[in-house]
Amino acid sequence: MDSTIKRGRLVTLEGGEGSGKSTQVVHLARFLREQGIETVITREPGGVPFSERLRELILQEPPSSAKTEFLMFAAARTEHIAGLIQPALMDGRWVVCDRYIDSTRVYQGVLGGIDAALIKATETYTVAPFLPDLTFLLDVNPKLGLERAKARGELSRYDAADEDDHAKVRKGFLDIAASEPGRCVVIDGQEREMEIAGQIAQIVKRRFL
Ligand SMILES: Nc1ncnc2c1ncn2[C@@H]1O[C@H](COP(=O)(O)OP(=O)(O)OP(=O)(O)O)[C@@H](O)[C@H]1O
Ligand SMILES: [Mg+2]
Repeated sequence: MDSTIKRGRLVTLEGGEGSGKSTQVVHLARFLREQGIETVITREPGGVPFSERLRELILQEPPSSAKTEFLMFAAARTEHIAGLIQPALMDGRWVVCDRYIDSTRVYQGVLGGIDAALIKATETYTVAPFLPDLTFLLDVNPKLGLERAKARGELSRYDAADEDDHAKVRKGFLDIAASEPGRCVVIDGQEREMEIAGQIAQIVKRRFL
């Protein structure tokens, strides 16, 4: 690896089900490529074959313990960083990731009850220094998000969670954004798709380009 290469940026998209993450990841990557920036799109859990297999396993056969699930997601992320995120960033490419550490904090932490100290320590030992440079939180009313996800015809185990949980998820993400305003930008995910894509592109441009 050439040490003179400038490290790429890691931008993550977060938010509840049907908030538009997977849609906006594609728009952001297109924008970055138009700026001449080599960009990799990836997602969590997953991103590399081993982690995609863990994703399938967790979704098909949810472990009985929230701790097991947390550790499996942590293992998936560790492999994802080692196999894709780290090499891309060190090579000067940018990485746009659909869900990352904040989804863990919210789903395994707020919903699953995993201790914040364990989550924090795991981030320190397995994620750092590959923490996101910038995170967009797509905030939508969970009802709207679920309607969108249903219309798309694909519901995950988490999509089936009850209303109370959806409210907790929304608040969990908003709390993170409020506590890390330098990294996180809250976007109204109820705007039109291209309006949101334009907002995200403008923010990235202002901040980094
Ligand atoms: N701004 C928008 N306005 C209306 N519909 C949208 C908007 N953004 C995305 N959609 C549509 O809503 C559905 C869900 O969007 P998308 O799959 O991007 O959400 P997601 O956050 O990735 O969801 P999940 O958490 O389930 O993966 C898709 O059918 C998509 O085309
Ligand atoms: Mg998605």
